[in-house]
Amino acid sequence: MFLVLSTSLNDSSRSRILARYAADQLQSKAMQCEWVDLAELPLPACDGGPCYQDPNVQHINSLVQSAKGILIAAPVYNYNLSSTAKNLIELTGKSWTDKIVGFLCAAGGQSSYMGVMGLANSMMLDFRTVILPRFVYTTGEAFSGNEIAETDVEVRVVELVDQLIHFSTALSQ
Ligand SMILES: Cc1cc2nc3c(=O)[nH]c(=O)nc-3n(C[C@H](O)[C@H](O)[C@H](O)COP(=O)(O)O)c2cc1C
Repeated sequence: MFLVLSTSLNDSSRSRILARYAADQLQSKAMQCEWVDLAELPLPACDGGPCYQDPNVQHINSLVQSAKGILIAAPVYNYNLSSTAKNLIELTGKSWTDKIVGFLCAAGGQSSYMGVMGLANSMMLDFRTVILPRFVYTTGEAFSGNEIAETDVEVRVVELVDQLIHFSTALSQ
């Protein structure tokens, strides 16, 4: 099972559009795919204690554990992925061990293109997560309303999805 996680809490999120497109691609390739939108699954802030008993945390933790490959869609805030994405990793920790993970990002400008690296590096160090070397970074021009407006961005999402399937299949043998 593949898991697509949308971590933006914004009603008009652009990274959610990327996530939805990626999930549709996985399904069109006959891959089993679970979808979680953190805007619809409120999570507590990680406190290193009682938060782990929260039913939503336990639900998402079991999905992460069961997934063979995961795509994280996230906003870029303050030159990093948003705190919602980081909080999700804090809440689910070791469940990311050896998972294959790709990133889809929405940013306001070009200069935060390395924003994914802080979280990605921590996941590699902490959990030996396999980070896909291809990730999708977009700015506002890539979208029109609720749709991706640039064919190049659609192609990059498809390439990320194909790489997710390829790595997951190869590394599970
Ligand atoms: C608090 C905040 C901080 C932001 N920081 C950055 C930033 O450092 N670099 C950048 O390119 N865009 C930044 N942006 C713009 C967002 O990345 C942009 O609005 C993006 O579309 C958010 O993702 P979403 O639409 O999926 O919610 C910031 C936006 C907010 C609200």
